[in-house]
Order: sequence, then C-alpha cells, then structure tokens
Amino acid sequence: MVKINTCIFISGKGSNLKNLINRSRDYNFPISIKLVVSNKKEALGIQHAKRNFIPYLIIDTKSRNFEHRLLIDLKKYNISLICLAGYMKILSKRFLRDFGKKVINIHPSLLPKFKGLKTFAKILKNKEKKTGCTVHFVDEKLDNGKIISQRFFFIDPTDNEDKIKNKTQKLEYLVFPESIIKIFRNR
Ligand code: GAR
Repeated sequence: MVKINTCIFISGKGSNLKNLINRSRDYNFPISIKLVVSNKKEALGIQHAKRNFIPYLIIDTKSRNFEHRLLIDLKKYNISLICLAGYMKILSKRFLRDFGKKVINIHPSLLPKFKGLKTFAKILKNKEKKTGCTVHFVDEKLDNGKIISQRFFFIDPTDNEDKIKNKTQKLEYLVFPESIIKIFRNR
C-alpha cells in the first residue's frame, strides 16, 4: 500500500504520537510518519521520534518566518498530512493555505463544547454527564473545523480531573487512528 507521508506536531508527552507510530507499522494503516515537529525542545514526546529513528524538528514559534521555514521542511519530506497531537499553538490562516493539504487535530472534549485549555476542569465545573474526544479538520480558529470522529463515555460521580483525563486519552488512542482510516478510506 502507498502510504501518506505524515508529520506529527507535538508540544508535550506525545502519547498520541507513540500510538500513531505503533499503528503506522501495520501494513494496512494509511500513513507513514516521516517527521515530528515540536515547539518545545523539552517535550517528552521527542523521545518517541528518537527511539523510532524518525527525523524531528524543534521550532521556535516566536521567531519571524518560522512558518515559512517549516513549509520548506514539510515540502522536503513530501508531507501530505499534518496531525496535531497535543500541539498547543494555533497555525495561521496563511500557513494552512500555503500548506494546502489536510491538517487534523485531536481535542479532549466533545467539540464544539470546551474548546481551548483547562478542558477537564471546565467539564467538571459544568457538571457534564458525558465527555470524550474529537478529531477534526483544522482551520485558523481554535479547536474549530469539520468534525471527523468523536467517542464518549459517561462521567462517574467519583471521577476527578486525572481520571477523566485518563479515560479520555484511552479513547484518543482509538479515535485518532480511526479518523485517519476514515479520511483516506476512499482514496
Ligand atoms: C491530548 O489529550 C490532546 O487531546 C490534547 O493534548 C493531549 C496531548 O497528549 N490536545 C489539546 O488539548 C489541543 N487543544 P499527548 O502529548 O500525550 O499525546
């Protein structure tokens, strides 16, 4: 199978990156991870790139022209899909237009509910009955864009932020791969 050259953007732990690296080893899984990008040099997730011999780039989002330089690297690796996996920055409208290919993001809530940061605290404060995660196409607005897949669970009265986070992340490891399969199913 001809696989889609993919770049994963991270800012932290990279457990979704690790999961996608593992899944991408399946012959039938549609992507091959060619590059990892992190905006934090201390991000733990970089270790997953290193261990798996995947090239990685550290970007400085404060430097002028960083998006322009990033686009050159994405071209160099012939990237056709960007997956934002815990990447905590917004990509500009111009970057998305110039990249011109698919960019998807995972978010730990049932969007359009609870965009942005402190998601689990907001969910508890709002006394939600259920929550989950969403994979969606990225546009220039925060946690916006067409939804590809969601999964949910019912919140237990004993759940705290950590428990909700753990339950959500377990679902993320299913939803991210299934969303990727879904968008490339009919190619
Ligand atoms: C994930 O739970 C992801 O949904 C969230 O960051 C976490 C990264 O975990 N993303 C956002 O909040 C984006 N708005 P990971 O580094 O272990 O994959």
